[in-house]
Amino acid sequence: MQRGLAVNILILGSGGREHALAWAVKQNPKCDRLIVAPGNAGIAQIAECASFDILDGAATVSFALENSLDLVIVGPEAPLATGVADALRDAQIPVFGPSAAAARLEASKAFTKEICAAVDAPTAGYAHFDQLDAAKAYINTQTAPLVVKADGLAAGKGVIIAMTIEEALAAVDDMFGGAFGSAGAEVVIEEFMEGEEASFFVLVDGETVLPIGTAQDHKRVGEGDTGPNTGGMGAYSPAPIMDEDITRKALDEIVKPTMAEMARRGTPYQGVLYVGLMIKDGQPRLVEYNVRFGDPECQAIMMRLGGQVLDLLQSCANGSLADANVTWADDHAMTVVLAANGYPGSYEQGTRIGGLSTLPADSFHQMFHAGTSQNGAYIVASGGRVLNATARGVTLAEAAERAYALVDQVEWPEGFCRRDIGWRALKRS
Ligand code: AMP
Ligand code: GLY
Repeated sequence: MQRGLAVNILILGSGGREHALAWAVKQNPKCDRLIVAPGNAGIAQIAECASFDILDGAATVSFALENSLDLVIVGPEAPLATGVADALRDAQIPVFGPSAAAARLEASKAFTKEICAAVDAPTAGYAHFDQLDAAKAYINTQTAPLVVKADGLAAGKGVIIAMTIEEALAAVDDMFGGAFGSAGAEVVIEEFMEGEEASFFVLVDGETVLPIGTAQDHKRVGEGDTGPNTGGMGAYSPAPIMDEDITRKALDEIVKPTMAEMARRGTPYQGVLYVGLMIKDGQPRLVEYNVRFGDPECQAIMMRLGGQVLDLLQSCANGSLADANVTWADDHAMTVVLAANGYPGSYEQGTRIGGLSTLPADSFHQMFHAGTSQNGAYIVASGGRVLNATARGVTLAEAAERAYALVDQVEWPEGFCRRDIGWRALKRS
């Protein structure tokens, strides 16, 4: 499909992750037409935005054929779970993202645990239930804390850390009672792992595994990691805890065996694999896999990788990762999420955001948009997580200073951010 070097690209999604992906691929001179569906107000400043049902494989294939696209990059997990990547591959359209069968690594926690058991990958001990009574009987034989998880996709909300047996019993009551819809029809009950969490990102083309970066997220809404869980309030890359030894163990003991097992079962994995790890005493254990980039981790990683991302994603899509290289800069990036007051609870929509047009925008500073839309002359908030102030520096402290300098130029009284993103790594250095 490729005509010469110029590449026409479609990115599916509308968040800060997709804005960062769009920004990075656009740095590559090969990038010709860049379309994002559905996009947001910030993405519209650097790409064409299109509107069709991105969960519909046939609609995505038609759009790709009509627009002579050379590469489709799938941002979020939902279109992967509905088989959009399969439809594109069947139509011979190069796509970055796993098949629905391989996307089960995120869509079913029980499936992931079963694969880990098959290859002996270090992870929390677990049991899997589709009946309330059996789940409760099991919980009564365990000691707290326990982690109770809805098996299916629950928008990051299907995980309960139960500090007591009573809380664990209440959690399974809720899940089997339908609190997470069909995602909770089956539950996984896990041993609670202590340690420090890190996210490890690798590209996989079905066979070759290529690490592209590490990051740490901040899931709690409040400073000092307090308050309810969110989609992520800020991230930085690299994660200092992911030293050479831990990275090698994560690859050799967890990631490569899982990928080999997926291929052996006839469902090879193609796309980015987000490996959530818990690290204690120099040993990584798997918390979860996601079949997409983390958001906001992606924003920090894209800032560090820049235009080479397009070559890497293409190599991943066409199965030639064995010949690909990542050029690492010895630098740091941070992204600080600005969210609407009230998030992750209820929040106001449509509030005006000022100060965006005069922000620096270069290879050291980018204000990526998440939940924004254009309302006449104004950019307004249209989601919970709204903006991602992202910056790069020689040190993490420099990246943080630049990211917060961006935050401080935004005029949005109806928004807030955490002021302590990076505290753990900054304390360490
Ligand atoms: P998950 O959706 O599986 O990533 O779970 C969300 C969050 O819950 C993770 O990022 C961890 O902070 C925490 N978590 C999940 N499983 C465990 C576990 N077995 N032990 C400790 N914490 C966990
Ligand atoms: N930031 C966490 C996630 O994307 O799942």
